[in-house]
Amino acid sequence: MSSPRLRVAVLASGRGSNLQALIAARDAGQLPVDFVLVGSDKAGAGALDLARDAGIPTFTLNPKDFPSRQAYDFELFRRLDASGADMLVLAGFMRIIDGEALKPWVGRMVNIHPSLLPKYRGLHTHRRALEAGDAEHGASVHYVTAELDGGPVIAQARIAIQPGDDEHALAQRLLAHEHQLLPAVLRLVAAQRLALLPPDGVALDGRALAAPLQLRNGELVD
Ligand code: GRF
Repeated sequence: MSSPRLRVAVLASGRGSNLQALIAARDAGQLPVDFVLVGSDKAGAGALDLARDAGIPTFTLNPKDFPSRQAYDFELFRRLDASGADMLVLAGFMRIIDGEALKPWVGRMVNIHPSLLPKYRGLHTHRRALEAGDAEHGASVHYVTAELDGGPVIAQARIAIQPGDDEHALAQRLLAHEHQLLPAVLRLVAAQRLALLPPDGVALDGRALAAPLQLRNGELVD
């Protein structure tokens, strides 16, 4: 008997191109998961429209309706729990999440961040890579822990910074790689090949990774 498909919930604050890439991979038969819920802190997020178009249930939670970050986050996770999700993907969810509230999800929640972590946690990553004169830039998918953009890195995509790159051009070029990276990681999760190795490691097929997996020609390599 085949095991049931992984049930995935997604949180997003913006246009949702990473969510779209996940849905496209599923539709192409390359990602055997079910999307059970898409949530946002922004009622106008493009990600919500994309989810609705794909027939995925959605919700919005407005932070202004809550007395504190922790109260907001506990309600957020209550809804995610109620959806029956096995796995939570943060795809451009632009909020810091309370460490207590996220605890039950550690090991079951990943985030995509547009830098080669541990470089450039937080915002304006493309600008910071350019200002530092870096030769390369990239994106990381990591397990989410209480430390902002600080959980164990699962996989990365790298691109060369080109002469004449500005923030926008660099972000756009990287985005195409993010759209391969996130589905590729989720494919490993769906195949039950990945695990967080406490306190700060990642295991692939039961073996600790010495370094994050790298995206090459659309495939993750060790
Ligand atoms: C991506 O660059 C992602 O890495 C970052 O936020 C952006 C979200 O873009 N966390 P989109 O909403 O998926 O298009």
